Amino acid sequence: MTLIDEGTAYGRQRQSHDAEIAEVGAGTPGGEFMRRYWHPIALSAKVDATPQNVRILGEDLVLFRDRKGRPGLLYPRCAHRGTTLFYGRVEDEGIRCCYHGWLFDVKGNCLDQPCEPENGRHKDKVRQPWYPVEELYGLVWAYMGPPNKKPVLTRWDTLESVKPGQKIVATGSSQGAGGDDTVEIVPTNWLNDWENIMDPFHVPILHTTFSGVQFVPEMGVMPEVTWETASHGMRYIAYRKLEDGRELDRITQALFPHTRIVPDIRLIEGPAAGVGWVVPVDDTHFRLFHARKVPEDFKPIEVRHYEGRKWSELTDAEKQMRPGDWEAQVGQGPISLHSEDHLVSSDQGVASLRRLLREQIRTVAQGGDPLGVTFDPARAVVKVQAGNYYRKK
Ligand code: FES
Ligand SMILES: [Fe+2]
Repeated sequence: MTLIDEGTAYGRQRQSHDAEIAEVGAGTPGGEFMRRYWHPIALSAKVDATPQNVRILGEDLVLFRDRKGRPGLLYPRCAHRGTTLFYGRVEDEGIRCCYHGWLFDVKGNCLDQPCEPENGRHKDKVRQPWYPVEELYGLVWAYMGPPNKKPVLTRWDTLESVKPGQKIVATGSSQGAGGDDTVEIVPTNWLNDWENIMDPFHVPILHTTFSGVQFVPEMGVMPEVTWETASHGMRYIAYRKLEDGRELDRITQALFPHTRIVPDIRLIEGPAAGVGWVVPVDDTHFRLFHARKVPEDFKPIEVRHYEGRKWSELTDAEKQMRPGDWEAQVGQGPISLHSEDHLVSSDQGVASLRRLLREQIRTVAQGGDPLGVTFDPARAVVKVQAGNYYRKK
């Protein structure tokens, strides 16, 4: 009797992504959840009088800085007859549409209609859709949610205590997701990256065995891990007994809606000096922003890959020899097919994070406020718990 092959790929069931937690478009449950928070959308230093297109949470917008220094984030289709403000000209008071010259300020007020009698007797009736923006830590932040629910912009204690000889540096490249400074947008769903932060077990495998020692050799020690729910999300504590006798607790945090706080990858003792945000561009792309407290004479570290080359210089064959976070996460597809996953005991962090995220999304859907949102300026500062702490040095 011939044995029948089992488990072949033939006739397998159609699989799907978990739309509730992965999607971010306006009107979707995940999108409404995301729209209850402030999001970093650009480096302050790169926002000037030249309008730029930005895509965030699946919405296309135009970002500029008026000549008085105020950043503005507007819906791009001009309220008059719809050409894009990307071709507009920035002036002291706002941006002037190239087609018939309507002038809008950073809050969308129409200030001038030069083709109309008296420069537009009824211009007050027109409003270009806009979003509130603020600047903090060298980043421009946007709030794209219901106006009556606008929270205070979160601050982070580690970034608030800048001593003489230190400064805050903001970055917006894909380096922290396995790419490099030549690429800003990562072509996969934001959750692939955010949940990776609660996956300490990929570190000794991907980052030490497959990619070569990408951080330090000590990261190759398989950790003992505990996951805990924390005030605004969750954290893990990865305990490692190192070969030289040192014992290390490495605490990493994932906070709502997409904050990641990873301690120093060289295992230097102390709290994490930086905070990162996994900002959804749309359902199938994300962009990372970071703000870090560094010494005044800090020079950015260039991560080198195979044979000392930059990630963007590698061929596909070289990436196969030395895959990193980009290859692993983008390799999960534009949006991961969550129904196909087999979560096991070492995925407790990922499973918990998905569960907590779903709870928060449902809280918003039921009219509540999600974790991490506050309307009280006295409660704006979040204490960073992530860091490297040695039990034995
Ligand atoms: S389309 Fe913008 S002013 Fe006419
Ligand atoms: Fe990683």
